[in-house]
Amino acid sequence: MNIETLKKQAAEKAVEQVQSGMVLGLGTGSTTRYAVIKIGELWQAGDLTDIVALPTSVQTAELAQTYGIPLTSLDQQPKLDLAIDGADEVDPQLNLIKGHGGALLREKMVESAAARFIVVVDTSKIVTKLGTRYALPIEVVKFGWKAQIQWLESFGYHPEIRGGEQDPFVTDNGNYIIHCDFPDGIADPAGLADQLINRVGVVEHGLFLNMASEVIVAGENGLSFLKRG
Ligand code: A5P
Repeated sequence: MNIETLKKQAAEKAVEQVQSGMVLGLGTGSTTRYAVIKIGELWQAGDLTDIVALPTSVQTAELAQTYGIPLTSLDQQPKLDLAIDGADEVDPQLNLIKGHGGALLREKMVESAAARFIVVVDTSKIVTKLGTRYALPIEVVKFGWKAQIQWLESFGYHPEIRGGEQDPFVTDNGNYIIHCDFPDGIADPAGLADQLINRVGVVEHGLFLNMASEVIVAGENGLSFLKRG
């Protein structure tokens, strides 16, 4: 089955949990895009009313606006009912690597504030160990970014600036992203998360630990539902 069909199936299944009156977190990326479109269609048809949505990126905000979905901010709505987003990797504990869409900081802020966080993926995102398929994105302030590269290198994390040194990718927050490669996977995600977040100049990292309430996985044999135990 076409990968886009799988992404759409997972995303649209999650949208079944959206109810009128909710404050919604809208993630970023090619899978979540299908959820935003579906929510937009339901909104335009009048099947969803009285919702407000909090987009995790400029890109998602622009898509939501094309459907006229009312938008809000964390300042106005510090608590959300439900957030829906994709992931780059999902491990057996439902821990995630996210951020290859470049929106990890706003995603983590919004999804941490949600009572329920549904992750939507296709089977290619399921891993036994985080870091085995994707690099770990780390958002850093521009000031002194090469010092962060050196610091990360000193631990053997194989850092590279996203976009390349000549034209680094800049996040919606005006920061850079460094990708770290772990050829054998990440042995201790919680320890690594602590190490990274305690480094001055690191804004956030793509390890989303103990955050997902459930994961909807679309595969060749249909949908499966993983829940935090
Ligand atoms: C955005 O910053 C990311 O966290 C995405 O949610 C993640 O990269 C999954 O994106 P796709 O659905 O496009 O694979």
